[in-house]
Amino acid sequence: MLIIHNIAELCTGPRGPVRLDGAGLVRRYRNASVGIDDGRIAWIKENDGESPPVGANVIDARGGCVIPGLIDCHTHTVFAGSREGEFVQRIEGRSYAEIAAAGGGIRNSMSAVRAATLDELVELALPRLARMLAWGVTTVEVKSGYGLTPADELKMLRAIKACGSRQPIECVATYLAAHTVPPEFDGDPDGYLDAIVAYDLLERIKNEGLAEFADAFCERTAFDVPRSRRFLEACARFRMTPRLHADQITQMGASRLAAEVGARSADHLETIDDAGIAAMKAAGTIAVLLPACSFYLGVPQAPARRIIDAGLPVAVATDFNPGSCVVESLPLTLSIACTQMRMTPEQVLVAATSNAAAVLNRSERIGALEVGMDADLVVLDVPNLEQMCYFAGRNCTRAVVKRGAVVWEG
Ligand code: NIG
Ligand code: FE
Repeated sequence: MLIIHNIAELCTGPRGPVRLDGAGLVRRYRNASVGIDDGRIAWIKENDGESPPVGANVIDARGGCVIPGLIDCHTHTVFAGSREGEFVQRIEGRSYAEIAAAGGGIRNSMSAVRAATLDELVELALPRLARMLAWGVTTVEVKSGYGLTPADELKMLRAIKACGSRQPIECVATYLAAHTVPPEFDGDPDGYLDAIVAYDLLERIKNEGLAEFADAFCERTAFDVPRSRRFLEACARFRMTPRLHADQITQMGASRLAAEVGARSADHLETIDDAGIAAMKAAGTIAVLLPACSFYLGVPQAPARRIIDAGLPVAVATDFNPGSCVVESLPLTLSIACTQMRMTPEQVLVAATSNAAAVLNRSERIGALEVGMDADLVVLDVPNLEQMCYFAGRNCTRAVVKRGAVVWEG
């Protein structure tokens, strides 16, 4: 048994998905302690004045706050190369879409990923994951989408799987071959689609257990609505749950498509309209907001409060990737959600734990601190949840526990 005691405040949301517009979203246990057995939460005590039994394995939280392990449910953590040239071009006035249309953007990273071996991709990703762990992330979703050939997409998915077995963060893989059309298929997007939904390829992804989700970039510079639909429906036949990059730059009805194909989430939503919000609500599609991406691109944020007030469950993730958002820190992203989207600290906590777990189909096991659930948690060096968001950009993590094991200590 591992006991964490001296917790000023243990904060947890309910199991997701949960709407964020109600009161009392976060349960707070004051002066708490928590017992962990066999990797799971065994008990939670409030107003616990007793000292832990002598000889017990104990972590002293020293008056810090404890939260569920953070879940980053939308990232592109496996990549090669860097794109600081585009960063400077945007400062000088070119837009993300203009740079993509001129052959930069995703195609820029594609060249570097194609040139890298599987082992090189893993070696590049491990330090990024180590830094995410230090910020309190215990589960991360990672997408392919920079290979853009069947062989290079498989290489990326295998790299993601290898990352999951080489460090403590649980890695959930998403097949994002429909990220953009590669140069060799210029003018022939359907030819490219044929290649990435080929029976043998999807069968291989299924049989090797390489991806739980499929995702497409539904955007003018990438795939239109009918082609995004074709990709997601083909992947769904091989047990990949659909998700979608929707309504980021251009409003083309992508969030409605996400609802129509029963997507688990529609992500980005900077240009979502009321029809999209209504369709997602009816379909049970979760809204994943990526405030660090708009921050990094210097463009307006998604209408978070309108989405929340409509009763949609909302998750928040980093969108960490080499182009539109190099922010690895989920806590910094949550602070940006607070200040730029006017989400409260309680709302962002639930968005990055309960609802992020729901996006990844893991609500039974992670995302909340309840007896019987995985003991994934973060001990903070601040006494309450509000301070974690308030100290934007400061790492308040004191210790990280994954399935009952201390995997990081500051
Ligand atoms: O989520 N929007 C598409 N995909 C990524 C960006 C990928 C890139 O620019 O490399 C995103 O922002
Ligand atoms: Fe993305």
